[in-house]
Parts: sequence; C-alpha cells; structure tokens
Amino acid sequence: MNIVVGVTGGIAAYKAVHLVRLLIKDGHDVTVIPTEDALRFVGLPTWEAVSRNPVTTSVHDDVARVRHVALGQAADLVIVAPATANTIAKMTAGLADDLLGTTLLATTAPVVIAPAMHTEMWRHPATQANIGTLRARGVLIAGPDDGELTGGDSGPGRMLEPEAIVAAALAALRPQDLAGVRVVVSTGGTREPLDPVRFLGNRSSGRQGTALALAAADRGAEVVLVAANVAGEVLADAMRPGIRIEHVGTATELGAAMRGEAENADVLVMAAAVADYRPAETAQRKLTKEAGPLERIELIENEDIVAGLAAGRRAAQTVVAFAAETPRDEQELLDRARRKRERKGVDLLVVNEVGWDRGFESAENTVQIVADTGVVGEASGTKRQVADAVWDAVIAVR
Ligand code: CTP
Repeated sequence: MNIVVGVTGGIAAYKAVHLVRLLIKDGHDVTVIPTEDALRFVGLPTWEAVSRNPVTTSVHDDVARVRHVALGQAADLVIVAPATANTIAKMTAGLADDLLGTTLLATTAPVVIAPAMHTEMWRHPATQANIGTLRARGVLIAGPDDGELTGGDSGPGRMLEPEAIVAAALAALRPQDLAGVRVVVSTGGTREPLDPVRFLGNRSSGRQGTALALAAADRGAEVVLVAANVAGEVLADAMRPGIRIEHVGTATELGAAMRGEAENADVLVMAAAVADYRPAETAQRKLTKEAGPLERIELIENEDIVAGLAAGRRAAQTVVAFAAETPRDEQELLDRARRKRERKGVDLLVVNEVGWDRGFESAENTVQIVADTGVVGEASGTKRQVADAVWDAVIAVR
C-alpha cells in the first residue's frame, strides 16, 4: 500500500519514527511529509533513512512531477502523527500552505490523525469543534491517550502508541462487508426510577455495544445506536458519520425505541443490560425517612424486549441477544446459553462470563457465540475485537 505519513511539530514526532518503521516492516511504501516545524524535532535525514524515500516539506520541490498533488492522489492511506492543535485547525480550514496541506486536500484516501497536545489545548472548545468537523468529514481520530505529558503533567492529549495508530489505520481500510446493511444496536443499562433521584440499575458501561456500532459502521453498515444511560466519553467515539444515536432511560423506553427502529432494520443486536423488573410505583417526590420507613419495594416484570423482537421479526431480519452469566463452570455457561437462545428465539446469542471484577466496565471481554448449530464463534480481547467477531458470525448466518 502507498501510505503518506504526515508529521507535525510536536515532541511526539520522535515516536512517528517507530510508526514509519512498523509500516515499512509491514511491507508498505511510505512517504513521510514533515512540516517545517516537525524538522525541529526530528531531522530530514532520519525520515529519509527510515522511510527509504525522498522527503521534502515544500511544494516547490519536484515541481515537474506536480508533487504537491501527486502524493495525495497516489496515496491509499494518509496518517498524520502527531497531529498538533495547529495542524488540526489548518486541516479543518483546508489550508494548503505546505506540502502536507496540499497533499491532504488532494487525497481521496482515508485519513487518520493521531492528536498530540497538552490537555488544556485538547479540551479547548476550538480544538474540540475542529475535531468534530474533521470527524464529520470522515477523518478517523485515533486517540489521544490519557497519560503522562511532556511537561510532567498528565491527562488526555498523549499521542497513541505507534502500534495502536497502525491498528486504527488498518481498521479504517477494512473490507466493507456490511455495506448497505441497516443495523440497530442497543447498549448501556436501563434505569428504573424509584423516585426523582433514585433508580434500580446495573453496571453496564455501554462499551461493548458502542464497539459493535463502531465496528459495523467501519464495515459499511448504516447504524442506529440506542443508548441507555451511557457516559458521554464512551459514546464520543460513536459520534461519527454512519451512526445515529438515540438516547433512552428505562426498559420501557428502550423497548419502544427498538420496536420503532426494527421496522427499517436488517439486523437487531440487543447488547443493552435490561432491568428484568421495575418498581410498581414511581414516587413523584423524593422518598424520605420522615414519611415513614421503606421496607419493601414492589416490583413488576418488564417485557422481554429481544424475545418480542425475535417473535415479530420480518423475513431476513437477524436478531442477536447477549447474555452475561455467572456460571459455576464452562459446561453450565454453554448450557444456559443454549437454553436462553432457544427461549428468546434469536438467531445468535453472545454469551460472556461476568463477575465482580470481570466483564463490566472493563476494556476487554471474552465471549462465545451460540447459534442453533452450537458454538459458531468465540473471541477474547478488546471489545472492538469481540465486536468484529460478532459481525463475522452475523454475516455467516445471513
Ligand atoms: N433482554 C431483553 N429484555 C429484558 C431482559 C433482557 O431484551 N427484559 C435481553 C438483553 O438485552 C440480552 C438478553 O435479553 O440481549 C439476555 O439478557 P439476560 O438478562 O441474560 O436474560 P434474562 O432473560 O433476564 O435471563 P436470566 O435473568 O434468567 O438470566
């Protein structure tokens, strides 16, 4: 693949040397385009040596071959790492006052940027607005990480490690095997209010469902993400073209949203943790001890949303459920999964083991995917890797 690596003027430029080496090792033809400022951190000979290609910052070199647009036209992928706040602002405005600027305007290839800056600069509304604009244009934003920064302080703004940037960039080039498929994914955990300030809820963070939405969108699907009480920082990644987010609170709201969206969907995935019961009554004012002790909460059962979706599904509509289990052993896990899949009438059931310290709120997950023929897939790793395994299984059953 022809890959252009834009390097801009931040201390993390030294890490981009390793990024280029990784890409070369992977067999790609890499052209580095530093900005003038970047050369203050890492010199031109280093870039030529590691990339094995000539390097220039200026639009006035190699004019005969119209280098200022040729590199962008020939690129299969453009990575900008590190991307400083200044470069991000220039990209947003479409400025082309150097070779990197003209290349970015001339390319139709996927563009991945790895922001690197101090936390204050990253959080500044100007930077955040620019990032939003770039994302809406389809630019993939890889990072930044939360960690140690150059000044000794710490927070979001640290450039992703080169290995992670390569992984994100190659993911952007993934085959579009869900192109045109309309999917609805539920995520998060429902909250059933007791009074205006209290609820019955669960520990689901919404990370797995958000990863499913992202993976589907990367593979070309049109995605609706029905999010129940998911933190903004988890949902932030899903704010991109190809994903529409719908917010819900209770199981009843989630059920209504899913049924509404199901009318125009090819695949339904219920990754949300739904409360099985809700308080029979919701107090309109805060429950207080003064008003008398609360000894019991009467509960009524919520409808089984996914079972209803499966029972009412249109022809060629695929329905996927999740199950979080706390089994005694592997055998019990799979037995429960098989019974639950049949009871719910779904095509696939994705089962994972959870506990006090596993499954919820963490970045990693281990699952098995059960169909009527038995276990058809398994995955262990990041929630993104698990998400891709689920979509592989969905494609296989469709
Ligand atoms: N689910 C649902 N509606 C409910 C409860 C669960 O749609 N009222 C969905 C979940 O989104 C998930 C699947 O059903 O996809 C399995 O959820 P789980 O809580 O494991 O199943 P339950 O039917 O509650 O089974 P049990 O509590 O007996 O394990």
